[in-house]
Amino acid sequence: MTGMKVVHIGFLGCGNVGSGVWRLLESFGKDIQHRTDLSFHVKKVLVRDINKSRGIAFPEGVLTRKVEDVLEDPEISIVVEFLGGEEPAFTWLHRALESGKTVITANKVAFALHWHTLQKTAKEHASGLYYEAAVCGAIPIIHALEDSLQANRIDKIFGIVNGTTNYILTRMSKNNESYDDVLCEAQRLGLAEPDPAADVEGLDAAYKLSILASLAFHGRVPFENIYVEGITGIQAEDVRCGLELGYTLKLLAIAKRDGMSVETRVHPTFIRCDHPLANVSGSFNAVYLKGHACQEMMFLGRGAGDMPTASAIVSDLVRAASAQKHLYPTFDNEPIPAVALKKNMDWSCPYYIRLLAKDTPGVLSQIAKAFADQGVSIAAMQQKGGQRDGRVPLVFITHSAHEKAMQQAIHGIPREIATMESMIRVEEE
Ligand code: HSE
Repeated sequence: MTGMKVVHIGFLGCGNVGSGVWRLLESFGKDIQHRTDLSFHVKKVLVRDINKSRGIAFPEGVLTRKVEDVLEDPEISIVVEFLGGEEPAFTWLHRALESGKTVITANKVAFALHWHTLQKTAKEHASGLYYEAAVCGAIPIIHALEDSLQANRIDKIFGIVNGTTNYILTRMSKNNESYDDVLCEAQRLGLAEPDPAADVEGLDAAYKLSILASLAFHGRVPFENIYVEGITGIQAEDVRCGLELGYTLKLLAIAKRDGMSVETRVHPTFIRCDHPLANVSGSFNAVYLKGHACQEMMFLGRGAGDMPTASAIVSDLVRAASAQKHLYPTFDNEPIPAVALKKNMDWSCPYYIRLLAKDTPGVLSQIAKAFADQGVSIAAMQQKGGQRDGRVPLVFITHSAHEKAMQQAIHGIPREIATMESMIRVEEE
């Protein structure tokens, strides 16, 4: 075919997603070539174990254990990284960019932590840097923020960006199951990692939020600026109480901007059952945002898995290989820019509080006083169920209150009259 361009690529790693990309190029490469005149040829695949079965018939000489075979081959113009984690991924990606190769990565950790360095090097060497697969798998949210939504000032992003935790919380809500039971079942089904810490403790979501918020607010929002609380302490009783009050529990990644002040947090959050995000079930991901021109918008899709993630990687391959000139996000690329976004850790929101309180006269007024002393206003209160060891469960929903005031109000409740069982933030937007 006239004008066809063969693009030689190298893989760093070849786990589930890498194998997915190989299979997608094998099964769909001809269609892409027909449309774009681009033919992708995977020349080298770096693996730890050449003899491991991957269900793929790699041609002789493709698999290698030497990273130099990928990074130092002048014919390879695009390096696709599937290693995950900070190192050695960052060092190798950096080397690839320095030698003028384009990098495509699904690695949210290395990317979120070293974005400014990688982008600076990419710009200096006119190398491309593409990372659609790093956030929410197949959902084209990076392209949307970088490109399609450029005409917007985006002030709010709410994301369900971790499929494992959404699966667990959905099962807890629908079947009234305990966290531990659902986690075990999810691990048995392969839906949760054997070591699920990064997912259930909210870190995976926080890396993704750092990337999304930086793009949306045109300023770096470092991972360290994100408040992170996972779902490990969630009790079935709270999920049930929330539903009775009209709320669904989600692990929400929240980013809000008010002038130069930015709040970014990942924590279990009650949202109204009629919010569009409330119906995002199982392992699906979704990003809901508000732009001043586009107004409300929601993206929904598969955030993980070999083929959904391969969909994003192969789209990046096509974008990268057909770009006349690589583009970079439009924010100040310095790690500490002169006009920096300031982190706000004292956000305001309504709170759901469940206490176990003594069942005697005057207890409620003492709790109400502890709240009032900190300016926290109670919107609703219910006594849920009967006595347990002489104490009764009380559930409060507050009006919007500052985080610090709420923490102090809880601290101000004498332990001999009531103890806090759970505090869950509520998002009413
Ligand atoms: N472990 C992630 C999830 C997918 O459960 O959504 C990769 O980021």
